[in-house]
Amino acid sequence: MQQSVSRQDFDRWMVPAYSPASFVPDRAEGSVLWDQNGKDYIDFAGGIAVNALGHAHPELQQALTQQAAKLWHTGNGYTNAPILHLAKQLIDATFAERVFFCNSGAEANEAALKLARKYAHDNFGPEKSGIIAFNNAFHGRTLFTVSAGGQPAYSKDFAPLPAGIDHAVFNDLDSVARLINDRTAAVIVEPIQGEGGVLPAEPAFLRGLRELCDRHNALLIFDEVQSGVGRTGSLYAYMHYGVTPDVLSTAKALGGGFPIGAMLTTEKLGAALNVGSHGTTYGGNPLAGAVGGKVMELINRPEVLEGVQLRHRWFTDGLNAINQRLHLFKEIRGLGLLIGCVLNEDFSGKAKQFSLAAAQQGVMVLIAGANVVRFAPSLIISEQDVETGLARFERACESVIKGAS
Ligand SMILES: Cc1ncc(COP(=O)(O)O)c(C=O)c1O
Repeated sequence: MQQSVSRQDFDRWMVPAYSPASFVPDRAEGSVLWDQNGKDYIDFAGGIAVNALGHAHPELQQALTQQAAKLWHTGNGYTNAPILHLAKQLIDATFAERVFFCNSGAEANEAALKLARKYAHDNFGPEKSGIIAFNNAFHGRTLFTVSAGGQPAYSKDFAPLPAGIDHAVFNDLDSVARLINDRTAAVIVEPIQGEGGVLPAEPAFLRGLRELCDRHNALLIFDEVQSGVGRTGSLYAYMHYGVTPDVLSTAKALGGGFPIGAMLTTEKLGAALNVGSHGTTYGGNPLAGAVGGKVMELINRPEVLEGVQLRHRWFTDGLNAINQRLHLFKEIRGLGLLIGCVLNEDFSGKAKQFSLAAAQQGVMVLIAGANVVRFAPSLIISEQDVETGLARFERACESVIKGAS
């Protein structure tokens, strides 16, 4: 028998890179989660935009356990049927013609940035290596991706950082025009800045990036790690915007909770990653392939994607009603089921307090920076769970107001 463990054990045994909630989740079903003491929570966090089909979805359980009984892992000296099926599903559903599988969002972006550099080196020479990224962007925690990210707090202590990365201002095309030139290999951008505050790109900005990249033979990389797999109500946000990238990274919801990442690109560009140029031991393993294939099958349906728009309204109607009564947010923004409530001046910097109060009331929410309370629930959350969760969130808001006054 294993001894029971508690939240305090995290501080005793784990590197303090995280500061997890005071409760320890024990089990979950759909959009309800229970902690070790049996207290229930409505899950509006979705494992940070990962559990797109909620928890313990019966068809995902079946896909995983059936594959677990068959074949777990072979390494990349062999391919396997589940991952090939998933590659075909992604190709059929998007602009892509080639896929590279890995295990996380950071790895998908790492692959995208390395592809861009390699393609530029192979075709234009070593001078073409510049990367343009954006202030406040988030692309992951490997050294290359955290350097591309636009939050120096996450990268500065790990210097020296990879060179050749410049940062422009999100939604400001002129700031990109000033930096881009023929030595630029790629521009990497989130169609909606997620961690940076749930800030959607303006359509003209993404269209302008496409034009600038074409003019300078630079690749346009969309980081859709957070915005992809139905989150915006389109399968990928690029479809919503009508701007097609050259390379797209996807992860998080693609595995519905099972670790997987993928980089999508065209046949021509993908060819740059020739044999031996890049790789990962676990990327494209059959377990991830089986679960990802089922996730794609279940999410890429009109009724699910349209359901995201409906649920967006349930959330925004409910949050607007809370705001009319309590006057907390200066803006409620986002697309589909990636929603951010920007706190007004009276509560600025206090997003974490709202998420702590929410947990106390039995609802899990996210933050995106110090000023934004973020919601990224299951794409198939029920109306009842949304109502219950928002009622609990309203009580949490009231408790923060009381504490603040
Ligand atoms: C837009 C974006 N890119 C990349 C990442 C990194 O993904 P991962 O944590 O799976 O490495 C994240 C994670 O929050 C993200 O939101």
